[in-house]
Amino acid sequence: MLKHHEKLEKNSILLLIFIVLAISVGGLIEIVPLFRVETTIEPVKGVRPYTPLELAGQNVYVREGCYNCHSQQIRPLRDEVERYGHYSLAAESMYDHPFQWGSKRTGPDLARVGGKYSDDWHVQHMHRPQDLVPESIMPPYPHLAERGANLDDIGQDMKALRMVGVPYTDEMIEFASRDAYAQAADESDYHDGLAERYGKVTMRNFDGQNHTTELDALIAYLQVLGTMAELQDYEAPSVQGEDK
Ligand code: HEC
Repeated sequence: MLKHHEKLEKNSILLLIFIVLAISVGGLIEIVPLFRVETTIEPVKGVRPYTPLELAGQNVYVREGCYNCHSQQIRPLRDEVERYGHYSLAAESMYDHPFQWGSKRTGPDLARVGGKYSDDWHVQHMHRPQDLVPESIMPPYPHLAERGANLDDIGQDMKALRMVGVPYTDEMIEFASRDAYAQAADESDYHDGLAERYGKVTMRNFDGQNHTTELDALIAYLQVLGTMAELQDYEAPSVQGEDK
């Protein structure tokens, strides 16, 4: 054995080949199981794919670069849990493509911002954050209330997401744009279909205007963040730094 090893040590190319082999075996053993998401993410009750309107809102969020200032990931540390609520679970972002964990918190974490403020608050905050938080350095986004939401081809986005594992059904994709408009309407004959397809969904006119804007989509998205998982049923391991 040692004799063979000497051969390896004296032949750099051979050594290189063996190093690559050894690393790839180790790498594959670590990486391959991760391709099967269902084995790595513990399912949590209540987590569902975004509705078409929420998905359009996420598209606005990504386009505007909100992730440059906001994370969506509450760490299991005491100060974070006290400030933002239950720490994030892997399952809560399993349908986010691309994921919005972020890496910088110029503004607060948004993983559980859903339900924290009224729609009205968000409308005003997006129009001019300083009207509500005078010291805020968040930029204003008044154009969102003026631009119609891009909902007619949101089904295409859902098709693409289905290819990477988001369980959208044919029916969800077929009715995507109708469901999107229905969700932002105060009253709609299509509300039942939307609820049937997605379960718990907030349906209302989010921005108070009579056409469906990008702001409607963005607020629908913000208001659902962190609210899907039924955390009371989740057996939580203790948080680091918490007194026993
Ligand atoms: C330049 C950094 C910056 C960018 C970009 C930014 N924000 Fe903010 N955001 C902040 C800061 C700072 C605060 C805290 C002060 C305030 O509430 O305005 C904040 C607060 C918020 C809050 C309230 C959070 C809470 O828990 O009080 C929401 C919601 C929010 N931002 C959403 C967004 C969205 C959506 C976008 C993209 C359209 C965005 N932000 C872009 C910096 C930013």
